[in-house]
Amino acid sequence: MGIESSCDETAAAVVRGRTVLSDEIASSADVQSLYGGVVPEIASRAHTEAVSAVVERAVKKAGIGYGDLDAVAVTYGAGLLGALLVGVSFAKAFAYALNKPLIAADHIRGHLAAAYTCAPDLEPPFVTLLASGGHTAVLYAESEGKFRILGATLDDAAGEAFDKVARVLGLKYPGGPNIERCIREGNGKPVIPMPKMLKGGGGYNFSYSGLKTAVINYCHTMEQKGLPYSKADVAASFQCAAVDVLVDKTMEAARETGVHTVTAGGGVAANSYLRQRLSEACEAAGLRLVLPEKRLCTDNAAMIAAEGAVQYRLGNFAKMDLNAKASVPLAATLGGH
Ligand code: KG4
Ligand code: ZN
Repeated sequence: MGIESSCDETAAAVVRGRTVLSDEIASSADVQSLYGGVVPEIASRAHTEAVSAVVERAVKKAGIGYGDLDAVAVTYGAGLLGALLVGVSFAKAFAYALNKPLIAADHIRGHLAAAYTCAPDLEPPFVTLLASGGHTAVLYAESEGKFRILGATLDDAAGEAFDKVARVLGLKYPGGPNIERCIREGNGKPVIPMPKMLKGGGGYNFSYSGLKTAVINYCHTMEQKGLPYSKADVAASFQCAAVDVLVDKTMEAARETGVHTVTAGGGVAANSYLRQRLSEACEAAGLRLVLPEKRLCTDNAAMIAAEGAVQYRLGNFAKMDLNAKASVPLAATLGGH
């Protein structure tokens, strides 16, 4: 069983090996969008109200009994502390009551483990694009338990850039899907020039702050001059610049490391343009692409259960004094426990 409560989604799921048996989510996103972002106290209260029923539903829909579970994995970090504590406290009591082992799952490793749920035969080494709200990195998977950072963002994460640009365009949180919706109102072409995104230089590193500033400057200049502009054009131009560099650097990393497989994870991997560009690039390069379905890219518990299964095989179990952590350094995340 996997339990996830790091942000505004209360989720529980059951996996058997790499097969997802159930995947339940209760979200407070509708309430949060009234405030333009996630309000931690609202998230914690919503988790408290939802967690018990969501876990019960996940077990029922998996078609098993509580006693059939082998272990209980829970996201212990990174995330909103109060929100995480709801999941961690529930998971401890649940595991204790069932006399099953408890597993501390790292949220970002969960995003990476999502790929395993859609490819039973996926084995390292492979190159992974991690693009979430807090992280953007190209990683080399050495083994199930160990990833190496090839490059990462020097400032904002890709998802953060989507969220900030959405706000500038007057679109609601979360930015990614709303930017995609906005783009569909235009012709989708990147007609507004955007800054070069560390394309040749920077190795596998990224920088999103210049792109975000360029969008802000463009909108403000047009508004000051009293000139009309198309939000859909701005959104499309931003999306191309933000996504193309992710695809280019991931493909370059795959070429250089000589892997045969590329995977991706994190909320931004749900982006349709990114998914299309990555699949075209992998097909052209003769590489296998393992792309979790969209709902497994954004926050969910199947990925936490999948990461729990990885840690279970590695024999990494948590004690009952497990605490939640608001932040976990990426290096610690990637090296295992
Ligand atoms: O991985 P995630 O669900 O949570 C974190 O662990 O951070 O990522 C959330 C981020 C948000 O910044 C959101 O705007 C972005 O992923 N996102 C998207 C899309 N769906 C979610 N970005 C671009 N296109 C999408 N369709
Ligand atoms: Zn996430």
